[in-house]
Amino acid sequence: MPYLSPALNVMTAAARKAGRPLIRDFGELENLQVSRKGPADFVTNADERTEKILVEELKKARPGYGFLAEEAGEIEGPDKTHRFIIDPIDGTTNFMHGIPQFCISIALEREGQVVSAVVFNPVSDEMFVAERGHGAFLNDKRLRVAQRSNLPDTLIASGAPFMGRDGQDLFLDELRMVINSTAGMRRLGSAALDLAWVAAGRFDAFWERHLRPWDIAAGLLLVKEAGGVVSDLDGRERMLETGDVLAANEALHRPLMDLLRKAKAGHSAA
Ligand code: IPD
Ligand code: CA
Ligand code: CA
Repeated sequence: MPYLSPALNVMTAAARKAGRPLIRDFGELENLQVSRKGPADFVTNADERTEKILVEELKKARPGYGFLAEEAGEIEGPDKTHRFIIDPIDGTTNFMHGIPQFCISIALEREGQVVSAVVFNPVSDEMFVAERGHGAFLNDKRLRVAQRSNLPDTLIASGAPFMGRDGQDLFLDELRMVINSTAGMRRLGSAALDLAWVAAGRFDAFWERHLRPWDIAAGLLLVKEAGGVVSDLDGRERMLETGDVLAANEALHRPLMDLLRKAKAGHSAA
């Protein structure tokens, strides 16, 4: 059985409550209202409604806590030591296209450190949870990262910078390096689920640049609690500040970082 702290209980209940109308929306995509935040960056009424439910539910249970929520931004609370970090739908593009690879991501930060994490895919009903020091779980099952240590055997996930974003050429150089050294790569379109899937051992590793705190705060704790190693692409633990992430098991983390560095060095020299 998963270890559910009182905070995790509150977070999973909020995710389930917000997940129900989200499944309904997913079944009626023709009614979805979509607006554009930037090039290829969309927000739907489902993102906004989901976030509203999550904030309301979490506020009810933890009235003093602050929030960093993708759509509403920073919401300060009187309790400066606790903050929820929320992505109401990670994988909005998938959601809009009827692809069931998206999730609700909620992390709880205590004194600047993420202590509880929930990543919930309402369509597959997969609830990934982690509590610092108590392991990571998928529904009732304890999670362990994959144990493969030989790069040519591995399946690696990543995210490509989309239209209007920097770093496309560097990404293509990194991608070339990775596909030439591993068994394959996937770009599934939800960074939070990519990390949850590393925790579950489905992917051997994940890297992506320029992510935002709400994409990764929960997923990073899932990987750590499943025995994996997480860092930015310089090997430091500044993922929430830099937005750059590499997550893998202990044996693969260093070789993958070296590979990505080699790609970057070749890119800078070109
Ligand atoms: C996006 C997803 C995607 C990643 C993008 C994110 P959103 O989040 O996590 O996998 O590549 O950089 O912006 O917009 O669907 O919440
Ligand atoms: Ca996101
Ligand atoms: Ca989002």
